[in-house]
Amino acid sequence: MQSELFNQLVRSRRSTFPDQFETGKKVDDDIIKEILINATWAPNHGKQEPWHFTVFSGDGLQQLATFQSELYKQLAGENFKEITYGKLQQNPLKASHVIALGMKRTTNKNIPEVEDIAAVACAVQNLYLSVTAYGLGGYWTTGGVTYKEEAKSFFGLGENDRLLGFFYIGHVAIPTGGATRMPIEEKVKWITGR
Ligand SMILES: Cc1cc2nc3c(=O)[nH]c(=O)nc-3n(C[C@H](O)[C@H](O)[C@H](O)COP(=O)(O)O)c2cc1C
Repeated sequence: MQSELFNQLVRSRRSTFPDQFETGKKVDDDIIKEILINATWAPNHGKQEPWHFTVFSGDGLQQLATFQSELYKQLAGENFKEITYGKLQQNPLKASHVIALGMKRTTNKNIPEVEDIAAVACAVQNLYLSVTAYGLGGYWTTGGVTYKEEAKSFFGLGENDRLLGFFYIGHVAIPTGGATRMPIEEKVKWITGR
């Protein structure tokens, strides 16, 4: 029965985007802490626990909004788009909490960087499943300043570390519908030896 519940949880997980959040309704910090503990139970090679999370809430959301929009403006040059600038200013304010997703590169050089990144991605899936279990919405974005070197220090990351994006969390006003997945036959090959 537990497996049926889990199947249902995994398959009902959806990305919920900022415009679908109930803006102004806060998620309890104690729930966010439980969700973060779940994130840290992700598998990771060499027990390095390479994740580094920065949680923005309350006035912190405005700080994130100002930081990312102004850095975007500074770096965009002739690619600057008013609509992107506006989204970077507004989107954090639609969420209850935004978690910056950092990867702190392990000092164990036997572990390839891709494995530290993969471990953080596993942690993010735990965030996704946890918000689903709490009846909340969330999504992972890699937009804005995610891959800008100049952004790293704001999130406590050094030059060998990586910013992997942001996980937005909020109460759901408008649920996401209409998700599909391909049949597994298109993605799975069995080799049975018979
Ligand atoms: C690594 C990664 C980066 C993503 N970045 C973005 C993004 O920048 N903007 C966005 O709208 N969605 C982003 N998403 C969320 C996807 O849009 C979403 O997972 C996809 O539409 C499938 O929907 P589902 O999560 O409801 O299954 C990202 C997802 C992953 C795994």
